[in-house]
Parts: sequence; structure tokens; C-alpha cells
Amino acid sequence: MLKRIPVSELKEGMKIGMPVLSPLGEKVIAKDTIVTHDVMVVISRSRAKEVTIMVSNEDLSQVKTQAKEMVMDGIENSINPVVFNTKEDVAQMVNRLTQIVMKNAKRKEYLQLMEKLKDYSETVFSHSINVALISYMLADWLNFPEADKEEVLLAGIVHDVGKLKIPLEILDAKRKLTKGEFEKIKKHSIFGSQMIKSAGLGEEIRLVALNHHERYNGKGYPMGLSGGRISQYGRLVGIVDTYEAMTAKRAYRKAMSPFVITEIMTANGGADYDPTFLNIFLFNILNRYVGKEVLLTNGKKAEIFSINRTNLGKPTVKMDGRVYDLTMPFLGKGVGVEEIYV
Ligand SMILES: [Fe+2]
Repeated sequence: MLKRIPVSELKEGMKIGMPVLSPLGEKVIAKDTIVTHDVMVVISRSRAKEVTIMVSNEDLSQVKTQAKEMVMDGIENSINPVVFNTKEDVAQMVNRLTQIVMKNAKRKEYLQLMEKLKDYSETVFSHSINVALISYMLADWLNFPEADKEEVLLAGIVHDVGKLKIPLEILDAKRKLTKGEFEKIKKHSIFGSQMIKSAGLGEEIRLVALNHHERYNGKGYPMGLSGGRISQYGRLVGIVDTYEAMTAKRAYRKAMSPFVITEIMTANGGADYDPTFLNIFLFNILNRYVGKEVLLTNGKKAEIFSINRTNLGKPTVKMDGRVYDLTMPFLGKGVGVEEIYV
């Protein structure tokens, strides 16, 4: 197979696929020549800007595998153990993400952005991977068609890509940000939208970067859009983004329990989020912990018995062979689930 590349990308050992011509049309290097240092000198003196080289199918598949390995390695170590808590879970999700990226026409652009994110900030990279995977799960719980689920996953990967333009001393600050610094961070939505536009990843993907901090009640940023004016995928990824950021372990705090996060996200009737998306998301996420051992806020250990549809943050738990409904003050007023053991 032939491939046209800029002279600057020419390397020793490559095979010339078509004669290299000077700007006047004279043949400078013949077809099938193996590129050596001397050949490179001759080509650069000829002032040709591009050359055609031979690429064997084997080389191409090797490139694909390398990219895949790079992504796989990065992802596997980034999976959020609170959400994906079995080895099978992790392996399955990593595979799915890799497959969806690799079959996309823009895989090169996605891989490049992923690599940049990983180099710039492990925290942002790992957050993005988890948001992508959880968003795919939510799209599945919402019965989205496969193509839409895949688009949501891809949007999750790049939703925070604008953070590449935020200085690390602000991004990684382990202290309360100043008002000015917070205003700077907020710009990542607009930066991300611009970057996605220039990478040509598509309008729905761009809108997720732009809209994921908008809130259903209009109290978000950058535009203060409300309700259905926020793109559908933007509303979806916005929920997962908030949830994942709180579940993930950070250097300065431990991971928060999904039940505590649920209480935070549903405070004031969950007005920040699309009500249908939020309800389906939390119910399904919390159901994954049925049967798991937990620590209650009163210091006692228990097991999640069932999730209460009407009060998601307060499940029914089993303790010493008895079942207690945490919406009732049997174990003391306001007792909740402090921690989940995984
Ligand atoms: Fe963000």
C-alpha cells in the first residue's frame, strides 16, 4: 500500500513507493529505494515537499496495535474501583472503550487527544475515561440505540479536553481556588468546544464539552442554559461528570460513598439535573451495591438489602440478621451509608 507523507516525516529504513521528482520534474530518487541518511539528504536538497512511501499491511496493523496498547494500559489503571468493582467489569469496559475508539473514523484524533490528556494530567485523563464508560452505561439504562451509546462514550472521553488549556497550578491545586482561578477553570468548556470543532469530531460531541456544566435550573455555566436548551448528551454527561468527580479518590480526600453523593445530588429535589436522567442513573448505579458490605454513619457495619425508590440515598440495610429501613429512625435519626467496601 502507498502512503504520501511530508518529507519531514521520512525515516531511515522506509521504502520509496513512487519516484521522487524535483520541482522541475527531474527524477531524483527511484521507486523501491530504501531510505538511508544519504537518500534523505538528496531528497531534502531536491526541495520536494512530500514523498510516497510503501507501507505494508503488517506495518499498519502494528501501528493500530501499538495505539491500542497505549490506550489499554492507560485505561486499565484509571478505572474507578467504586463504580467498576470486579475484574470482569474492568476488562469488559476497557475492551468496549477501545473497540469503540478504534472503529471510529476519527480514531487518530481521539487517540491524540487521549494521549495529550494523559501526559498533561493523570487525574483529568482518568476522570474522562470513567465518565465515558459510566455515560455509556447510563445511555444503556436509558435504552439508547447502540450508535447513540457509542457517541455518548466518545463525548465522555473528550468532554474535559479544554482543561489542556488550564494551567496545572490551578488544575491540580489542593486548596480552595480564588474567584479568579475558578473563573479561569470555567473556561475549559469553551476551550474544549473549540478544540473539538477544529478536530472535526462532530456537533453532538462538541456540545457535550460546551454544555456539561450547564444545570437544568439554569444555574450552570458558561451560558446559564436551562432544561431542554442544554443538549441531551450534555445533560447526561453533566450528571455522570458530577457523580464521578465525587466518587473518585483524590490525594486530599477519600472517595465519597455513592449514597452520600446521591443525597447531595438529590438535595432540593435534584433541581440541578434532568429529573428522568438523574432518577434512572442513581437507581441503577445504587442497585449495583445491593448485597455489598457497608459502613454506616453511626459506625456500624451492615449490608445493602434494597434501594428505596422514593429515597435513593437511604437504602434498606441488613444487620445482625435483621432488616432496617434507613428512611426510618430505627438505627438513630439521619443514619446513612458512609462507606462501601470494595
Ligand atoms: Fe468539566
